[in-house]
Amino acid sequence: MIDLKPYNTFGVSVKTPHLITVESKKALIEALRLHPNALILGKGSNILFTKDLQQPVIVIANQGITTENWENNLVKVTAAAGESWDDLVQYALSLDLCGLENLSLIPSSVGAAPIQNIGAYGVEQNQFFESCLALDCSNLTWVQFSKEECQFGYRNSFFKNEGKGRFIIWEVSYVLPSKAAELNITYAPLKNYFEEHPEIQPTPKKIAELVIAIRKSKLPDPSKLGNAGSFFKNPVIEEELALQLRREFSDLPTYPASDGVKVAAGWLIEKAGFKGYFNGDAGVHEKQALVLVNKGGASGKEIANLSVQIQKKVFDQFRIRLEPEVTIL
Ligand code: FAD
Ligand code: EPU
Repeated sequence: MIDLKPYNTFGVSVKTPHLITVESKKALIEALRLHPNALILGKGSNILFTKDLQQPVIVIANQGITTENWENNLVKVTAAAGESWDDLVQYALSLDLCGLENLSLIPSSVGAAPIQNIGAYGVEQNQFFESCLALDCSNLTWVQFSKEECQFGYRNSFFKNEGKGRFIIWEVSYVLPSKAAELNITYAPLKNYFEEHPEIQPTPKKIAELVIAIRKSKLPDPSKLGNAGSFFKNPVIEEELALQLRREFSDLPTYPASDGVKVAAGWLIEKAGFKGYFNGDAGVHEKQALVLVNKGGASGKEIANLSVQIQKKVFDQFRIRLEPEVTIL
């Protein structure tokens, strides 16, 4: 049996009967022929294991990034699924390509980025996504997905719905501007910084630097404190409930969404009294209440139980259901 503790950023200890690391298409297909029910894992930064697995784990570890010129000063960058997302961001920055700077330091693999449609500081990966290559596990054939086919939404995609469990993403392509394009400084702390420092020009590298500093000030480093980033999604509620809540709580952070009003889950959890709360080693981060943490010895079950306790209290207090962003197994 193999301990999955080094393979998940929550740092919980559960066992799997087999773990296979695949770096080539051939190895992936061979592994799937032997273990068709295997769990696919990237960097384990969005998963909470609550019990030992009966099935083997396949870790996607193919490497490589290539570029090709695209039309109108655009460059197509294709990265292997097993690459670290932040290495891709840094690589793009080193070539003076724009777009991914707001997504610096997310501890994702490239392959998992389209699944969640990762996002941060005003940008989501779908804004620059061009296509991805995936293996259809139902017949072991390769399929190219266009942006439209991926049906991206807020922390959502085709791969979390109809395509769930069927496709393994192997390569992802982004099309990035090579000339200073419109940079995104809409996120309040970025906007404030450039307003307070008019002598400093926003550049992709400067934005990346600021995003990294903001992230380090709020989000725990998984190598020091186990976590999987935001545990819940920011809920989207009906306009009417938002109006009622705003009357009661004038400081409730809300954002317009296509299908209602998005509410800051971190605020709800803090107001429900959980910020900095611990039950043993499972707790809520003291600087960001949307992040559940493992001080070292918590089991996945303890963290999952805490998440249910939070959901109940938030629902009782605000009539809002929090939906986990993290995959709980
Ligand atoms: P894993 O956790 O390994 O897997 C997640 C799911 O995807 C699993 O169901 C797995 O089976 C499946 N999967 C993984 N790889 C593949 C593949 N190649 N093909 C098919 N299925 C696959 N997310 C954000 O969006 N924005 C943030 O700002 C952000 N900040 C974070 C900060 C911290 C400190 C941490 C720990 C996490 C953060 N996250 C953030 C969450 C997380 O990094 C993302 O959800 C990321 O995309 C998960 O990637 P992974 O490779 O770790 O996936
Ligand atoms: N807030 C509180 N208390 C808290 C935490 C947050 O009141 O303890 C308030 C903040 O004051 C702010 C608002 O909530 O007004 C939003 O907080 P923040 O900007 O920190 O972002 P978030 O909504 O909590 C989201 C993403 C993050 C992403 C950041 C930055 C989700 C679920 N989370 O967090 O993504 O990095 O915005 O864009 O959408 C992740 O998905 O794992 C993740 C970390």
